[in-house]
Amino acid sequence: MAKKKGRVFSGARPTGRQHLGNYLGAIKNYVALQDDYETIYCIVDIHALTTVETTQDLRQNTYEMALDWLAAGIRPEESIVFVQSHVPQVTELHTLLSMVTPLGKLTDLPTFKEKVRQNPKNVNYGLVGYPVLMTADIVLYKADTVPVGIDQAPHIEFAREIVRSFNYRYKTKVLIEPQMKATKVPKVLGIDGQKKMGKSLDNHIELAATPEETQKRIMQMVTDPQRIKRTDPGDPDVCNVFSMHKIFSPADEVEMIDTECRRAGIGCVDCKKRFAANLNKHLEPFRAKRAELEENPDHIWDVLHDGADRARKIAEQTMEEVRAAVQLP
Ligand code: TRP
Repeated sequence: MAKKKGRVFSGARPTGRQHLGNYLGAIKNYVALQDDYETIYCIVDIHALTTVETTQDLRQNTYEMALDWLAAGIRPEESIVFVQSHVPQVTELHTLLSMVTPLGKLTDLPTFKEKVRQNPKNVNYGLVGYPVLMTADIVLYKADTVPVGIDQAPHIEFAREIVRSFNYRYKTKVLIEPQMKATKVPKVLGIDGQKKMGKSLDNHIELAATPEETQKRIMQMVTDPQRIKRTDPGDPDVCNVFSMHKIFSPADEVEMIDTECRRAGIGCVDCKKRFAANLNKHLEPFRAKRAELEENPDHIWDVLHDGADRARKIAEQTMEEVRAAVQLP
């Protein structure tokens, strides 16, 4: 095998069944990176605790997410796929990193302020430390490359600062400054055509849905709001269904829709049916693989435990170096 370019780490909170937004925004890229990098993908259950109201679904959500990742093409023989809490060294590193992290900078982060705004009644200590735990995730595994959406850019910049402070303070080079690898992804809107696709808004399309459910969901999608009657010409440039066609439909069909929509040659119903058909076709191999994996739920847990074993080896090695650098007696 050709030498890999570096080591990728990325994490995502356990949100259960994945949707089109997750797929286009993260999973597709995770799959592609396996060819060129050593890849480590983590389900960050501890991060999830900063905002969840109840933990009763944590296990199921972790399972469903791992299932979707593997069905989508993450190859556990190559990638390390694991659950954050299965490698508790991350919490130790988090504590050590917290000592070189200025509190004021954490509370100034836009992502923190947003969380406070969303849920002012649950501003817990863990929430403040969210980016420190994220830094610990990355540096524990000595990852140099972190593929994340642009919304995470402040966190990666922050991680770099923490690494510099730590290495400076303890006169060491054990921690590696990670680079962000901004994922070039389309902004995926929900079926409302307004907000980013997300489970909490219930405007999402699940990858694991049946073809019928998928079509039903797609038929509810909001198109160009100016186009009221079938005979009104539409504007594909403001239509969320059209932006999906550009991703999932063959080029000649995209071109045809572009032309015909503008002169009311094709209606929204037809256009959506075509998208549903193309998306369902695209997801066929995913669904087949998923059904196969689902026959043996233990296999998913075996994969996650094996991933944790491999991750723990790297983690313990790093921690030995870190403890020595800090001069813990
Ligand atoms: N903060 C990320 C998110 O909310 C999840 C995450 C946790 C992560 N640890 C990470 C992402 C490490 C990249 C690297 O989406």
